[in-house]
Amino acid sequence: MSSIGKQCHDFYSWLLLCDDGLSFFQKNTTSGERPIATMASSRIFSISSESTFISSPIFWTVAAILASILIYNLFLPPASLHRSSPVKPYRLSLLPGLGPLTLYSQRNTFLRKAFGDPETWHTSPPKQNGLRLNSRGHVMTIVNDVSADAKTFFNDRGLDFNQGYEVMFAGVPQLPAWIAPTPPAEDAGIDGFVMNLKQAIGGQRLTETIPDIVRIIVENFKTYPSEGGELDVHKTIYPLVFQISVLLIGLQEHARDINTVKALETPFWEFADNTGFMATHFPLLPWPSTVKKWIGAIKMSTEIRKTLEKRKKEGRRENDHVQEMIDRGASTKSIEDFVMGGLFAAIINSTGVAAYGLIFLCSNPELRDEVRNEMDEVFRRSAEERGDDYDSLSLTEKLSRVPLSVWETDFPTYQTVLDETLRLLLISLIFRRKLLTPSKVTQTTTHISSDVIRNREFVSFWLAAAHRNSNIYSDPLKFDPTRFARGEGKGDGEFVPWGAGRHICLGMRFAKLEIKAVHAAFLFNFPDTRSVSPQDGKAFSSDDVPLPDQESEHRRYPTKPVVLKYGTNHVSKLPANE
Ligand code: HEM
Repeated sequence: MSSIGKQCHDFYSWLLLCDDGLSFFQKNTTSGERPIATMASSRIFSISSESTFISSPIFWTVAAILASILIYNLFLPPASLHRSSPVKPYRLSLLPGLGPLTLYSQRNTFLRKAFGDPETWHTSPPKQNGLRLNSRGHVMTIVNDVSADAKTFFNDRGLDFNQGYEVMFAGVPQLPAWIAPTPPAEDAGIDGFVMNLKQAIGGQRLTETIPDIVRIIVENFKTYPSEGGELDVHKTIYPLVFQISVLLIGLQEHARDINTVKALETPFWEFADNTGFMATHFPLLPWPSTVKKWIGAIKMSTEIRKTLEKRKKEGRRENDHVQEMIDRGASTKSIEDFVMGGLFAAIINSTGVAAYGLIFLCSNPELRDEVRNEMDEVFRRSAEERGDDYDSLSLTEKLSRVPLSVWETDFPTYQTVLDETLRLLLISLIFRRKLLTPSKVTQTTTHISSDVIRNREFVSFWLAAAHRNSNIYSDPLKFDPTRFARGEGKGDGEFVPWGAGRHICLGMRFAKLEIKAVHAAFLFNFPDTRSVSPQDGKAFSSDDVPLPDQESEHRRYPTKPVVLKYGTNHVSKLPANE
C-alpha cells in the first residue's frame, strides 16, 4: 500500500516524528527561543563583518561543531547496525550515516541485489535471510523469509504501524500551521482518522453511492472517441478512479466533474511522485524533489480548505462525509487532514490495480469475454429479481440498480483476475516500528530471522518476497489467474496484497467495489478492447504483456508503452446523465 496515509498530525509534530535531528531545531523554534543554528550563523556573520573571523576561536569552535555533526550524520551509522546476529548488516553505503539511498530511488533493484531475484529462488535460494540496514540513523530489518516471519510481522503487537510509516514512508504532510493556524479537534489524530474513514466508506455509504459511482464512470467514457480509440490508462482510468475516491472521501464540489477533480489530481501526483529519500528523511531541506512534494501538498491542501470555506460561507449543504464532519463541528484542519490522508490511502493502489487489471484482461480476449459473461449473468439475474427487463436497460441503469450485496457476490473468474493483478502489482515494502510502551500488550520480544528486534528499530516486509517468489508461484512473472485454482499462494503470508492480521486494509471493501464497477462498465461498453503497443499496433498476449516498471511504485508505468484499443464506444453519443 504502497500506500498508507493516515498520519494526521499537525505540521510540527509530524516533523518531530520524521526527523529526530530536526526536532531539536524545531523545539527551539516553537519555544520562542532562536534555534542554535540561527544564533551561530548570525554570530559568525557579525564577526565576519569585523574581518577577523578566520582567527576567531568562536568561528573555529562553531566550524568544528558543524563539521562533527556533518561527519556524524554522513559517515557514522548507529552502533546497533553492526551487532552479533544471524541477520547480516548492509555494509556498502557510500555514506554509512545515511544508509543506502537506492533503498528509496531504486527500491526493488536494491532488494534484488541483496537477496537475489525472488522469481528464481526455487533454483537459486536467497543469498541471505533478512537484511539489517541503516536508513538515516534508523536501524531497519527487511524481511524476505515469508514462511518464517510473516506471522510476526503482521500480528506482533509490539510492532507499531503508524510510526513505521511516519518515519520510513513520507507521511501525509499538512498545510504548515504558520500558514493556516487552527486548533486540533476531536476528529484529528489516528483514532479520528480511522473513525471517519469507516463512516465515509461504510456499507451504508457504499450502498447510497453506487448510482453516483456508475454515473461518474459512464460520463467519463462518453468523453472518449466514438470509434477506434486508443486509451492511455494514466490519462483515462487513473483520473476516473481518482474522481470516485474523491466522491467517497473528499468534497462533492470536487467530485462533481472530471475537470474540477483535476484541481486536486495534479498536485496529488506531484506530491506522491516525490517521496524519495530526501523528502522522507530531510523534509525541511529544500531539495528539488522535496520542494515539489511540498508544493503539491500545499496546493492540494489549499484547494480543499478553500472549497470547504466556500461551502460554509455560502451555507450550502452537500451529500458527503465531509458534511457530516462539518455538522458535528469538526475543525477545518481536521477535515482537511482526513481528506488528505484518506485520499492518499485510497488512491495509489486503487488507480494502479483498476488500470492494470484492464491491461491484463485485454491481453487475453478469451478471459476478457469469460469475465464479461460472468458479470452479465450475475447482473441479468439481479435485474430479473427486481422485475427489470435487463436487455432494455441502458448501461447506467444496468449497473446503478445493482445492489451492493450483488456487487459483492461471488464472481469466481473475475476474482482470480483481480487477485492475479494484485499479486503482480504489490511488490514494495511495508513498514513497522518496534515500540516498547508501558502497555503490557506491546511488551513482546520480536524475532525476525532469529534476531531480536530492539526497541525503536524498524521492520519492513518485502511483498515481492511473497508475490514473486518462485517457491510459491510457478512462472511468477506471468499473468496467470488459473494459478490460484492450483492452490498457489495459500500459505501464511504468501498472498497479502491487502496486508493481513492487525492492519489489514481498511479500504478493501470500497476498493473492490470501485475497481469492479470500473471493470464491469468498461467490459460492457468496450467489449472488443485489446491491449496493444501504440508503436506498432501489435496486440499483447498474457505471455508478453509488459508488467509495471518495478521502480514505478506509485504510478505503475509499464516497462513498454501499452494502450487499450477499442472498436466502438457505445455511450459516446448519449446525452449527459443518460
Ligand atoms: C487496490 C487497492 C488497495 C490495496 C491493494 C491496498 C493495500 C493495503 C495494504 C497492503 C495495507 C496494509 C499495509 C501494511 O500492513 O503495512 C493496507 C492498509 C490500509 N489501507 Fe489499503 N489498499 C487499497 C485500497 C485502499 C483504499 C481505497 C483505502 C481507503 C479508502 C485504503 C485504506 C487503508 C488504510 C486506512 C490502511 C491501514 C489500516 C490500519 O491502519 O490498520 N486502502 N492497504
